Amino acid sequence: MDFTGKDIISIKDFSKTEIDHILKCAEKMIPFAKGEKTLTLLEGKILSSLFFEPSTRTRLSFESAMNRLSGRVIGFADPTATSQKKGETLADTIRMADAYSDIIVMRHPSEGAARLAADFADSPILNAGDGAGHHPTQCLLDLFTIFHEKKHIGKQNVVLLGDLKYGRTVHSLAYALSLYGSDLTFVSPKSLKMPREVINECKNLGATPTSTTKIEKALKNADVLYVTRIQKERFPDLEEYNRVVGTYQITMDLLKAVKKDLIIMHPLPRVTEIDPAVDQTNHAVYFKQAFNGVPIRMALLSLVSGVKL
Ligand code: NCD
Repeated sequence: MDFTGKDIISIKDFSKTEIDHILKCAEKMIPFAKGEKTLTLLEGKILSSLFFEPSTRTRLSFESAMNRLSGRVIGFADPTATSQKKGETLADTIRMADAYSDIIVMRHPSEGAARLAADFADSPILNAGDGAGHHPTQCLLDLFTIFHEKKHIGKQNVVLLGDLKYGRTVHSLAYALSLYGSDLTFVSPKSLKMPREVINECKNLGATPTSTTKIEKALKNADVLYVTRIQKERFPDLEEYNRVVGTYQITMDLLKAVKKDLIIMHPLPRVTEIDPAVDQTNHAVYFKQAFNGVPIRMALLSLVSGVKL
């Protein structure tokens, strides 16, 4: 399996065998991601880190991953400090990053921006989120987390909760879990349902997802609960946001009736959708999940650079 020079735009570009290979490579990276051992695999290589939208975990874990591989990072986290402010096109900004580095990671508010960037760069483009579109590296770390916590990914009851319309992480994850044969339940307010195209893609892979607005019943048999934030920044109308924010909150009370080994995931940041009291329970794996971004991204940066792991 060769990923040299490959763009990572959507999880849909990967087969199950390829995903399994990436997860295996990430496993090997754990002691290096923790800093217990050192690596020089990407010595002399430069990563451009272009964040046109806010980010904490994705940007820092990509940068940590590159540093752990002995590579270097250039880039920006605030696009208003770049020539975009002077009217430069995305295509030209990408051409520059391509000239100055070996790999480009980019987050952008427009759906399709990563695919467009790939047309203008020879270096691999790693999509760190394109609007409400895709978030493939998050998806891989989510799968890695399920694998770690549950020892397998497959026939499990997985509940995806929250903003399923605008949340890009759940679009990618619903697709990937359909590849693995998981039983999916989508729980959201009526106005934030999983888009029809995503549901159809899941069905084409043989999944039979169900949609509901009721959390209690869905949680009863859940093995994995994946909570998401209502994506305020993507609402055309703030009044609509105010109507749905706070619809769901995972509380200790709600967890009384769940399976003992239910895991609760969240791509983070969380706002009010998980009560901080839940952090202390064995169900909460979201902080471990955030760490998993480092080994996954170390594996991806190495693989697209042509390193055999
Ligand atoms: C998510 C994102 O940016 O899509 N965060 C992340 O990458 N960990 C989720 C979110 O912002 O709600």
